[in-house]
Amino acid sequence: TRITFISPDNQHITVDAPNGESLMEAAVEHDVPGIDADCGGGCACATCHVILSDDLMAALLPIDEDEQYLLDFLDNRQKNSRLSCQINVSDKLDGMIITIPKQA
Ligand code: FES
Repeated sequence: TRITFISPDNQHITVDAPNGESLMEAAVEHDVPGIDADCGGGCACATCHVILSDDLMAALLPIDEDEQYLLDFLDNRQKNSRLSCQINVSDKLDGMIITIPKQA
């Protein structure tokens, strides 16, 4: 699945990620800047914050309670903010562009 990340310093990085791993893992494996993932994917740090397109946001499963709780702490939360460790790579992400905001 081909996914393009736009890093906080505006690098466009396209990766080929296997379905099933998390979007956070795909970014970390390819050294995409801006995804620190301090908690290692435990939905406890929010340093894997990403912004999705409207289309992708609508295509994914809704945000669960734990993720919602963490997103509420982000000063730079936006309409399409998600935590990338809570999103699994799947065909729905193919060709998508994922924007990484500056860490709050
Ligand atoms: Fe910590 Fe996603 S990696 S919340």
